[in-house]
This record gives sequence, C-alpha cells and structure tokens, in this order.
Amino acid sequence: MADHCGSPSPVISNSKIAIIGAGVSGIAAAKQLCHHNPIIFEASEWIGGVWKSCAYNSTKLQSTRKNYEFAEFPWPNRDDPSFPSKVEILDYLESYARHFDVLKFIKFNSKVVELRLARPSETIELGGNAGHYWNRPLLGQPVWEIAVQTKDSNNLKWYAFEFVVICIGLFGDMPKVPEFPNNKGPEIFKGKILHTIDYCKLNNEAASQLLEGKKVVVVGYKKSAIDLVVECAQANQGAEGQPCTMVVRTPHWIAPNHRLLRLLFSLFYTSRFSEFLRERPNQTIFRTLICYILSPLRRGISKLMESFILWKLPLKKYRLKPDHTFEEDITSCQMATVPENFFAEADRGNIVFKRASDWWFWEDGIEFDDNTKTKADVVVLATGYNGMKKLKTILPEPCRSMIEYPYGIMALYRGTIHPSIPNMAFVGYVDSASNVRASELRSKWLARLIDEKFKLPSVEIMVEQTLTEMEFMRRTIRFYKRPCIATFSINHADEIYEEMGCELLA
Ligand SMILES: Cc1cc2nc3c(=O)[nH]c(=O)nc-3n(C[C@H](O)[C@H](O)[C@H](O)COP(=O)(O)OP(=O)(O)OC[C@H]3O[C@@H](n4cnc5c(N)ncnc54)[C@H](O)[C@@H]3O)c2cc1C
Ligand SMILES: NC(=O)c1ccc[n+]([C@@H]2O[C@H](COP(=O)([O-])OP(=O)(O)OC[C@H]3O[C@@H](n4cnc5c(N)ncnc54)[C@H](OP(=O)(O)O)[C@@H]3O)[C@@H](O)[C@H]2O)c1
Repeated sequence: MADHCGSPSPVISNSKIAIIGAGVSGIAAAKQLCHHNPIIFEASEWIGGVWKSCAYNSTKLQSTRKNYEFAEFPWPNRDDPSFPSKVEILDYLESYARHFDVLKFIKFNSKVVELRLARPSETIELGGNAGHYWNRPLLGQPVWEIAVQTKDSNNLKWYAFEFVVICIGLFGDMPKVPEFPNNKGPEIFKGKILHTIDYCKLNNEAASQLLEGKKVVVVGYKKSAIDLVVECAQANQGAEGQPCTMVVRTPHWIAPNHRLLRLLFSLFYTSRFSEFLRERPNQTIFRTLICYILSPLRRGISKLMESFILWKLPLKKYRLKPDHTFEEDITSCQMATVPENFFAEADRGNIVFKRASDWWFWEDGIEFDDNTKTKADVVVLATGYNGMKKLKTILPEPCRSMIEYPYGIMALYRGTIHPSIPNMAFVGYVDSASNVRASELRSKWLARLIDEKFKLPSVEIMVEQTLTEMEFMRRTIRFYKRPCIATFSINHADEIYEEMGCELLA
C-alpha cells in the first residue's frame, strides 16, 4: 500500500460491502443487502440510533405506527392510533433486526473514524469516470478503506471494501452549538450548560434533580425543546417550583395530536390527491400550469389548517403565531407535534416564552437582543444537530467538498448516491412524511443497483437531475435546511420504483 505508507495494511474482509451505522437506515440497508453478508460498523453498543441515544424518557413518535413502519415488517398493533413510546419503537426495530437476522452482521462498539480510497486517484477518478463504477459496482477489488476504532483497543484497524453504505444519521452524535462573541459565551456563565444530547443520557432521577427547583432556560422551539420544557415544567410543580423559560427564535407551526387534524393532514399533504395539487421536481410545463391554476386552492387548504390549529392552540395569546404559512413549514419538514399538557403548563405559569432573535450569556443567566435579561441556573441548548459536520469528519477530500451543495444540503441522486463519488451510498439523508419507508425504499433501490438489476443514466444526467431537484427545493422550500420530500414522496417513490424496474405503487 505505497499510497498509505505509515498505516497498517487493511484487512481484506470476507464482506464486499460495509454499512456504517445500525439505526433505522443501517438495519434497513443490511436487510436488503443481506445476501452479500455485509459488515455493519456501529459506534455504540446498541441498534436503533437516535431512539436510544437522543430520545428522552418522554419521547414518543410524532405520528401513528403506520407512518413509521417497514413495508416488509408491519407493526404487530399497527391500527393502534396512539403514538408509540421510544421503548416500543426500539422493540419494533429490534424485532425487525431479529426477524431478518441482521444482528449477526453488526460489529458493535466499532466507530468508523476515517474513509479513504483504496487505490491512488489515478486509478479511481472521482468525477466523470465514476459512471464506469456505477455500471458494475462490485468489481472484485477494494475501492474504499475504512479505519475503525474499537472500545477495547487504541489502535485503528483498517478494512477494505468494494462498496460503502453510510447510515450515520442526520441527527444525534454531533450537537449544533451556537457561537458567541468574546466574553459573552459559556465561559462567563456561573450556572450549568448542556445540550439535549447530554440530557438524554440522564435517567429519570438525575433528570428531575437537574431541573427541580432550578431556574431553567431551554433554547429552541422545535421538538427537542418542546418536550424538554414540558419535562422541566413537570419537575417544577408546587410551591418550590420555578418557571422554565423557552427561548423562541423562529415560531413555526406546531400541531396538537388531534384525530381530525391528522385526517386533514393526510388528505391534503401526504396523499396522491395532495401531490397532484403541488409542484414537484422535473415536472412538465403542463403540470406547472396546472399547479399555478391550483395555487388558490393550496392557499385555502393552508389557511384551513392554520385556522384549525389556532382554534385548538393559544398561539396568538403567547405571540407564537408564525409569520409564514402552514404550507411553508410542511414543505420544509419543519413542523412538530406538541404534547397535550404543553399549553396547560404555560397557562399555569410553569412555561414562559421569550421571543428573541439573538441572545448571549451573562454571569447569572442570559441576555437578549431587546436588552432584557433572565436569570438561570441551568441552560439547555435544544439547538439541534450538525449531521453534515458528522459526515464530513469521516469523508476524505475531495468527497467532503463534493457532497455539500450551497445552503448546506447534500446533492444526492435519488437521495442516495453522489453520481461522482464511486461505490458509496448514503441512506437516511432525506426527510419525508415516513422516514422508515424512505430508508427502506432507498435501500431496495441500492440493493438492485449493486446486483445490476438496472442501469443508471450517465453521470452527467444524474448530476443534472440532482441539481434540478436541489434547485426546486431551494425555490419552493422556505426553510431550506435539509432535503425534504414530504409533499412529493409518493411521486418520488414512483420514480424510484420505475427506475429499478418494479411495479409502481398502488
Ligand atoms: C429524538 C428524535 C426523535 C425523532 N422522532 C422522529 C419521528 O417521530 N418520526 C420520524 O419520522 N422521524 C423522527 N426522527 C428522525 C430520525 O432521525 C429518523 O426517523 C431515523 O430514526 C434516523 O435513523 P438513521 O438510521 O438514519 O440515523 P440514526 O438513528 O442517527 O442512526 C445512526 C447510527 O450510526 C451510528 N454512527 C454514527 N457515526 C458513526 C460512526 N462514525 N461509526 C459507526 N457508527 C456510527 C450511530 O451510533 C447510530 O446508531 C427523530 C429524530 C430524533 C433525534
Ligand atoms: N419524535 C419526537 O418526539 C422528537 C423529539 C425530538 C426531536 N425530534 C426530531 O429530531 C430532529 C431534531 O430536532 P431538534 O428539536 O433537536 O432540532 P431542530 O429541529 O434542528 O431545532 C433546533 C431549534 O433550536 C433553535 N436554535 C438553533 N440555534 C439557535 C440559537 N442560536 N438561538 C436560538 N434558537 C436556536 C432553532 O431555531 P430556528 O428555527 O430559528 O433555527 C430551532 O427552534 C427533528 O427532525 C425532530 O423532528 C423528534
């Protein structure tokens, strides 16, 4: 291995395919690729990814079981209309892994720390030449080398594979932490600061000890923040209790768990009928015209949903009514469901909302851009995760730069491969109304591609189509933070089925 002098020679494993990560996406990929006996490298000692590592004791699915289900493995109680708890979800994922016997492929406590091309770049050319690899993905020779760090050894172990499937997830592992000017950051704060990922590691007792009787500030107004502030309010009941402050930068539409709302939502946003009303990438001029004519209907539907939510939730009372439409949040995969007691706790004074577009620390708490201050003993950053940074830490250049399209989004064909990076796939990188189905379908597509059951178009065509899709999302999705196919996922699935030569969805 002249090109990698200094590092030990890689182990040529019996497996041709490596999968990195054993969350929903990793086990879905392993199921579809099981006839290749893949090796799954999983950094932790469990399967289930975020459901184990960054869910609270109170975390539930934000939808019913049917919307978080593998097509090939229905939930046993799939008609139960309640939202399952994290324990039920982990049980379901474990049953799937056992049923399809994928646990045997997993190497736990094995963190991938680096990927590199197995051969010098004169033989594996990134870019236009990658089309040759996509025609015959398993060439009988290693394309990627993977450095793995295990818990019980300080030495890295290198493995060589023909194909790598990256399933390390958009969330978890790498917290997104705000940056502050000098002397306004955590260093001057006398209290305790933690991110939600640290909070998730606490058991019930430690969590309520942290919050009970303390002045707590939760930064963020999305699902992690909303659930946390409710846990905080519950730990602060009674005379000794302190109100929890929630820092809201951008109010988004939030939804109550209401049967009628769910029904309207599935009819108007996730059905074939709803997809007919909306624009989608690569559509004909005729469809663009139809969508233009139908735009008043879309605005009416959005208004209807907004009116329903405003009827059910006191958003105006707490100055939390978003400035943008419901439609804009849905097309950007930005909406969160609220626990039943969220506004009840606010009404009791246990949750206080603070609107602020900027904030920083002072020694006894945090200060806002309207020159007000709030005292705090504990500040919890529910500020989300940096999935792109996590990915970039293991990818080599130039792949690292190639995957990032302006606005921080990955340019992936079918949401799965970068046309110019050979023999590498990404599963779990599109957000949709049903993330489990999305990962399962992309894994099926990938398995058929690897098995040469269909041929991809040329690299140029794939790049062009991917860029058109990204441009479409940038234009139509107001909060363009990650690829969101929620309003055209059925059409997306149809295209994938058609490309891989399977029957279209019913
Ligand atoms: C708290 C929370 C709740 C959510 N709730 C919902 C919901 O209700 N509905 C919904 O549709 N979606 C929800 N999501 C989105 C969720 O991310 C997806 O539904 C799905 O679980 C993602 O699975 P994944 O396998 O792609 O990623 P992950 O679950 O993140 O799994 C990635 C795995 O890769 C491993 N890994 C990471 N880096 C490495 C490395 N370098 N080497 C080896 N292993 C590595 C991790 O340990 C992890 O096990 C939620 C996300 C979070 C954070
Ligand atoms: N099923 C469940 O119950 C559940 C539970 C938790 C999480 N999740 C999922 O997990 C994913 C991550 O959710 P998340 O809530 O952790 O993260 P997120 O969706 O990325 O939200 C981050 C929040 O922090 C705010 N924020 C970021 N930086 C800030 C700053 N400097 N100052 C003030 N506010 C700041 C954001 O405001 P802006 O909007 O202004 O950027 C946003 O409100 C989502 O897909 C979510 O649906 C699901």
